[in-house]
Amino acid sequence: MTFAAKFRMWSSINSHATFMVATLNTSSKRTTGHVFIAASVDGYIARPDGDIDWLSKYAASGEDTGYDAFMNTVDGLMMGRATFEKVLSFDSWPFKKPVVVLSRTLSQADLRADLGGKVRISSLAPLPLMQALASEGWRRAYVDGGRLIQSFINENLISDIVLTRIPVLLGDGIPLFGPLAADLPLRHVETTTFASGMVQSRYELG
Ligand SMILES: NC(=O)c1ccc[n+]([C@@H]2O[C@H](COP(=O)([O-])OP(=O)(O)OC[C@H]3O[C@@H](n4cnc5c(N)ncnc54)[C@H](OP(=O)(O)O)[C@@H]3O)[C@@H](O)[C@H]2O)c1
Repeated sequence: MTFAAKFRMWSSINSHATFMVATLNTSSKRTTGHVFIAASVDGYIARPDGDIDWLSKYAASGEDTGYDAFMNTVDGLMMGRATFEKVLSFDSWPFKKPVVVLSRTLSQADLRADLGGKVRISSLAPLPLMQALASEGWRRAYVDGGRLIQSFINENLISDIVLTRIPVLLGDGIPLFGPLAADLPLRHVETTTFASGMVQSRYELG
């Protein structure tokens, strides 16, 4: 699969022309976390081995799920190490915005030379990292990767989730959501359906 095809798959699925660009909170100095992700109807973001090829048919549908509009609202991305490793398997680096990879096992020295200036490795916990990024002027951060999203949710650092449900059951895989200390009510904002069968909902947290 070409890079272009893979990236279209990644971006389009992780991604609606009428996507409601979230209101920028210009009065607050804190960084807010935002999720934009695709999952199977049974709640998996990848197969057990990390495979996301099941998304490709939906990316190929040509439907605009709003990824570009979403990306225009964020200052940068934070991703878990496993998601970063998946992105490294693409033909080229797909992000124009700065990326912070959270990892306790990788260091800056492990980065490919061409990623210098584009990617930072951080071993900070979610809250101190958000505070550090706030001091750098980040207002909105895209948080990506199942386990990373779960840990940000558990620390109340996610403001909203745009979840695109892919009409497939995988039976097993890497889950989007995980254990919680208590039920977490979500405010449903909007749901859009696509001819391909994708269903995209936006929920606010907190
Ligand atoms: N369907 C979609 O739209 C979509 C979107 C994104 C990703 N994906 C897929 O999701 C898979 C990766 O998700 P994942 O849940 O396995 O992993 P992940 O969240 O991407 O990465 C988890 C890793 O991040 C590091 N980490 C550092 N601080 C952390 C913290 N506070 N909480 C959690 N992790 C922290 C740890 O790595 P160290 O061991 O190095 O410390 C941990 O093992 C990939 O297959 C990717 O393709 C799918």
